[in-house]
Amino acid sequence: MTTVLKLGGSVVTDKDVPETVDERNLSRAADAIAAVDEDLVVIHGGGSFGHPYAAEHGVSTTDGTHDPVAVRAIHGAMKELNGAVVDALAAAEVPAVPVHPFSVASRDSAGELSLPTDQLATMLSEGFAPVLHGDVVVHESAGATVISGDEIVVALADALDADRVGVCSAVPGVYDAEENVIDRIDSFDDVANALGGSDATDVTGGMAAKVRELLGLDAPAYIFDIDGLDGFIAGENPGTRIG
Ligand code: IPE
Repeated sequence: MTTVLKLGGSVVTDKDVPETVDERNLSRAADAIAAVDEDLVVIHGGGSFGHPYAAEHGVSTTDGTHDPVAVRAIHGAMKELNGAVVDALAAAEVPAVPVHPFSVASRDSAGELSLPTDQLATMLSEGFAPVLHGDVVVHESAGATVISGDEIVVALADALDADRVGVCSAVPGVYDAEENVIDRIDSFDDVANALGGSDATDVTGGMAAKVRELLGLDAPAYIFDIDGLDGFIAGENPGTRIG
């Protein structure tokens, strides 16, 4: 069994205070993750580390930069957060090891992502738990653009033949128009009206983009908040099931 789990930036950081780890949530998540006894890939988002730098330099998943200062600032902030996540997982005795997408991934001029996964498969078979993160990625004809944790989740889930995908976010699931958590989503059209756009500092696109990307996976994906993480790891169906 292979599980791909994303910890949203709003879970592991304090989104309102620049470059601040939410230590309590992070150690709570790490303790929950320590119960996983199968192959596990963790991806975390940017929160108050990546997003402010991306916004400051005008970089998004489509708007690139050729400024190495911008690339180093965004990537550097994400590496720092990655270090904090790996450390917290290590403290909970998860065999976590860091993997930085900027070092290995690229996009072609059409935006098509190339993300090697052979090393990740070997990490898993050798008992390591790779921890990746949203990042910048070199992008043919655009310089470097942002890659969201969600895009990495989607790329890895299929490439590593994941059995289950979890997205631990700030909300307990996908809300319908009355703010009730939708149990299950099988097609985007069913929920298109209920899903709003992204907020100002989220350069990678909010819940609608998340649902759209997760619907494309072979494996079932679940969106839940930190209260649902233990249940997800125990094999339950917290939050919203997608696909
Ligand atoms: C964003 O990743 C990465 C950068 C801004 C560099 P995500 O889009 O996955 O981050 P969150 O989960 O929304 O914070």
